[in-house]
Amino acid sequence: MFEEKPQSLQQRVTDLAAEALQSGQPATWFEPLYQQAQGDTGQVPWAKLEPHPYLQEWLEVEAIQGKGQSVLVIGCGLGDDAELLAKLGFKVTAFDVAPTAIAWCQQRFPNSSVDYQVADLFKLPQSWQQRFDLVVEIRDIQALPLSVRTDVIKAVASPVAVAGTLFIVTRIRDHGTIPDGPPWPLSDQELAQLHELGLKEHDRVQFTVSEQPEVRQVRLVYQRITA
Ligand SMILES: C[S@@+](CC[C@H](N)C(=O)[O-])C[C@H]1O[C@@H](n2cnc3c(N)ncnc32)[C@H](O)[C@@H]1O
Repeated sequence: MFEEKPQSLQQRVTDLAAEALQSGQPATWFEPLYQQAQGDTGQVPWAKLEPHPYLQEWLEVEAIQGKGQSVLVIGCGLGDDAELLAKLGFKVTAFDVAPTAIAWCQQRFPNSSVDYQVADLFKLPQSWQQRFDLVVEIRDIQALPLSVRTDVIKAVASPVAVAGTLFIVTRIRDHGTIPDGPPWPLSDQELAQLHELGLKEHDRVQFTVSEQPEVRQVRLVYQRITA
């Protein structure tokens, strides 16, 4: 989730996340962070103003075309991944729990075909259950603590249609280690929950970032085998 960033921003993220955790509502730190940024994307640690390179690479390598396909972008942030998918012809729904992020997307992309919505991953509309051909989640599971991990993974899997695809970008950690997040990388044992939910791992590519060799990131592709 967080690449390199100034110490003061890192501290603000840590403080906001700690406060949210203490309140027992771990997803409540995002809206204040977007609000406090006051339109300055430099104050949003994950904002790169371009689609995530691992998503771009996968779409190119697999020569994926979106015509006639629906995609749900989870925790869409400032909208760059959603916009890339729309350009490829997908019918895109993109949501975020932070209203300021969604307003920002609408302001950045006023002529977009993307259906941007404020929604909470923990309370997804019933009509989204197993409805999307492709579900894209980039750095969102790891943005929420281990205390809600089982629920988050269940929620991420739920909109994937039968025979549909789930695309994930996340940091990973060794099983048995307790991360000091945010971010809170995933373990293979946590990812195994997706198998129990009817999804099968289809592809995995691991990346390391030269400036942060201790960080392991993966691009994962799952397919829903059973309802
Ligand atoms: C680390 S950011 C990643 C944003 C984007 N996916 C990216 O890679 O640039 C995590 C995003 O998830 C959103 N988020 C966190 N909890 C959420 C929830 N319960 N429901 C929907 N979105 C959530 C945050 O507001 C934030 O935009």
